[in-house]
Amino acid sequence: MKRLVIVSNRVMPVTSKKVMVGGLAAGVLAALRESGGVWFGWSGNVSESPAAEPVLTSQGRISYLTCDLNARDYDQYYNGFANQNLWPLFHYRLDLTNFERDWYESYRRVNQDMAHKLLPYLTGDDLIWVHDYHMIPFGEELRHMGVADPIGFFVHTPFPPADLLITLPCHENLFRSLLSYDLVGFQTANDLRNFHDYISRETGGTVDPDGTVHAHGRIMQSGVFPIGIDTEDFVALGETHEAQRQAQRLAQSLIGRDLIVGVDRTDYSKGLLTRLRAFELLLETYPIDRSRVHLLQVTPPSREAVPEYARMERELDALSGHINGRFAEFDWVPIRYIHRAYNRRELAGFFRVSRVGLVTPSRDGMNLVAKEYVAAQDPDNPGVLVLSRFAGAARQMDRALVVNPFDVYAISEAIQEALEMPLDERKGRWSEMLEDLRREDIDHWRESFVSKLVAVNRKQAAGAAGAAGAAGALRAVGGGKKRAG
Ligand code: F6P
Repeated sequence: MKRLVIVSNRVMPVTSKKVMVGGLAAGVLAALRESGGVWFGWSGNVSESPAAEPVLTSQGRISYLTCDLNARDYDQYYNGFANQNLWPLFHYRLDLTNFERDWYESYRRVNQDMAHKLLPYLTGDDLIWVHDYHMIPFGEELRHMGVADPIGFFVHTPFPPADLLITLPCHENLFRSLLSYDLVGFQTANDLRNFHDYISRETGGTVDPDGTVHAHGRIMQSGVFPIGIDTEDFVALGETHEAQRQAQRLAQSLIGRDLIVGVDRTDYSKGLLTRLRAFELLLETYPIDRSRVHLLQVTPPSREAVPEYARMERELDALSGHINGRFAEFDWVPIRYIHRAYNRRELAGFFRVSRVGLVTPSRDGMNLVAKEYVAAQDPDNPGVLVLSRFAGAARQMDRALVVNPFDVYAISEAIQEALEMPLDERKGRWSEMLEDLRREDIDHWRESFVSKLVAVNRKQAAGAAGAAGAAGALRAVGGGKKRAG
């Protein structure tokens, strides 16, 4: 019976005032809510001289251990290497990558410091699950410190082809760290294939048909574990009083018009500019009456200290202003563009009122908004999801209208098709997708990754029967030298 210890760059306690839009934090929190455990990482705060020990807080069966970053590491590790190197690289945007040796040193240093900070809280009977591109070397650092517990890693973003990965000057040093994990998980088969290609081309290693990787004298496992959502929770959210109240308010303001909705962090990977251009094209060509629709685009600010994000924000402001100026009537504005966050209940209400949900990233690991959109629909009158083929979610949600997010004509036609789709077809598509979301939900994701990690570790413990404990069996919060929770 092992305790689950989750490590990620950002920790988002249940009590946080920050509003989440899809993504890692929502997934991790939902996973921990079910199993209990510890969540360790950055508090989101920058301080002059961060404390040597993490701050421990608990709520229910979840303990949070958080550390601040100093200003230099915030710039170099988070804004620098993580978000100006790895993020664009992993989203196939070589044109936006920017490598600085200092940034990489800071990235390694933060991972090492964080591993040191977690160490005293480990019990020796934990199952450690590290998440995302910020923390690639974390497992290797723990191994250097003698931690023998099972350690797994999950890549939430896409994992690009080897030809792109090798443009990163430190790629050998960085990706070698992945071999310290017992198990590395990816969102899609495509991402896994890219990892295997990299292993065989760049490390001289080999990969067995079952995903076992042999490289640099290490043997580890790899696999596909598409992240889900807490489907029942989101279905229920759509029916809460708050969701219904917001839905009603929004519906009244539409005066019978159809709503198209998009909810994305401000990020160049989300395909927002192309989406707005597609909507502009729709207004030019819409056959019935263009003032019959509204686009509600909710785009909370993100990573504003990174120049590319600030530039994109300005472009979005300009383009939405241009489209509104071009098409608005004195009693109708085509785009309601909102640059702030809403809570999940409010979003569920918006999704429920809409006829079309737009999720058109140029590249996305999974995209949980696509799943939340489907879960929030009214069974008697469901909306239609228009989904990018380059979102991981498209591999599972083929009953959406799947589009090429670089093709404004295709997006515009898909919106039109969605607006005109008969109720029976909408219901059919929606119920099939909801069934899949129920089957492959967040619990399924956690259980399949964790049980695989336990099994791999057990196999490696070579015959130490029962030593790794029962697959999937997790103890809520156990004791360590410093007891967390
Ligand atoms: O899903 C990718 C991701 O980078 C997560 O790791 C993160 O929680 C989310 O996007 C939001 O980004 P940030 O933590 O940089 O605000």
